[in-house]
Amino acid sequence: MDYLIAYSSKTGTTKEIAERIAKMIEERGDKAEAKPISAIHDLSGYDRIILGSPVNGMKVLPEFNAFCREKASACNAPKDLFLVSYMFENGRSMWKKALQKEKTRLAEILSARSSEFFGGRIDKQLPGFARLIFGIPRDTPLDIRNWVAIETWTKSL
Ligand SMILES: Cc1cc2nc3c(=O)[nH]c(=O)nc-3n(C[C@H](O)[C@H](O)[C@H](O)COP(=O)(O)O)c2cc1C
Repeated sequence: MDYLIAYSSKTGTTKEIAERIAKMIEERGDKAEAKPISAIHDLSGYDRIILGSPVNGMKVLPEFNAFCREKASACNAPKDLFLVSYMFENGRSMWKKALQKEKTRLAEILSARSSEFFGGRIDKQLPGFARLIFGIPRDTPLDIRNWVAIETWTKSL
């Protein structure tokens, strides 16, 4: 099987997750390459496509949204989706709901077989007012990526 992991990333977190997913797939004997969406011109020739984007302002990045709508949705290969979020696990339920809605919207555009949230990373602690608004506890680490969860999901693909 030949996998493409197509990602967008602003600060490198999603890139690292995409590259780790590709490595895990290769370790089990399949072919896999992780590529930024800006470098993808042709989606043909892949058996499976995994798409990943960070969430900014409770939405995926605009360029990722456009890529899904204009290119990926037209591709027949089975697709899986992951979104990288800092608020989904620890944030208030209203933000969780907004994030869930965004994931469902993208999954529908893509007809994705599966879709998942992964915890992400922020560069520096959120200011107190932002922690309060989003409901993020003070002691939350900057990097909340859960590599075991990522590995478990990758095994299922
Ligand atoms: C400007 C900005 C806005 C963000 N907005 C959200 C958000 O609305 N919801 C959320 O869960 N995470 C949000 N985050 C957190 C990141 O999306 C997340 O931690 C992710 O790891 C960043 O991925 P990247 O390094 O691939 O860009 C935001 C981060 C930044 C820098």
